Amino acid sequence: GAPVEVDIDKLEPGMLLTVEWRGKPIWVLRRTEAMLETLEKLNAQLADPDSLREQQPAYAQNMTRSIKPEFLVVEGVCTHLGCAPTFRKDIAPADLGPDWLGGFFCPCHGSKFDLAGRVYSGVPAPTNLVVPPYTYLSDSRLLIG
Ligand code: FES
Repeated sequence: GAPVEVDIDKLEPGMLLTVEWRGKPIWVLRRTEAMLETLEKLNAQLADPDSLREQQPAYAQNMTRSIKPEFLVVEGVCTHLGCAPTFRKDIAPADLGPDWLGGFFCPCHGSKFDLAGRVYSGVPAPTNLVVPPYTYLSDSRLLIG
């Protein structure tokens, strides 16, 4: 599939944009400072906080799993059986409990991911959400693929 250009200039902080690349939904999340601050609090609850299990681009091998911390780019596909997780910015389904800091929840079998797409321990999904290949064409344009 051809690479896809994405304009991220008008994406508001805290908002998620979905584009399609190779038949898959790709999420671009513009993270606020508050969202980024949740990441370091979660390591103990995650199955693979340093993304050692999942093959991914070298530029995503960091805590934010991104080139620029502000923008998360991941495949919106659950790594269990491929369902579509939902973005839960702050309001969690009741069964996620009162300590939910935001992230993604897969309704099919209850897998949970943080705001960097990192999977929680004890859920069916075995690995973090996949980071696709991408580059910045400019400060306001991404190229995915
Ligand atoms: Fe997401 Fe099973 S497909 S938890």
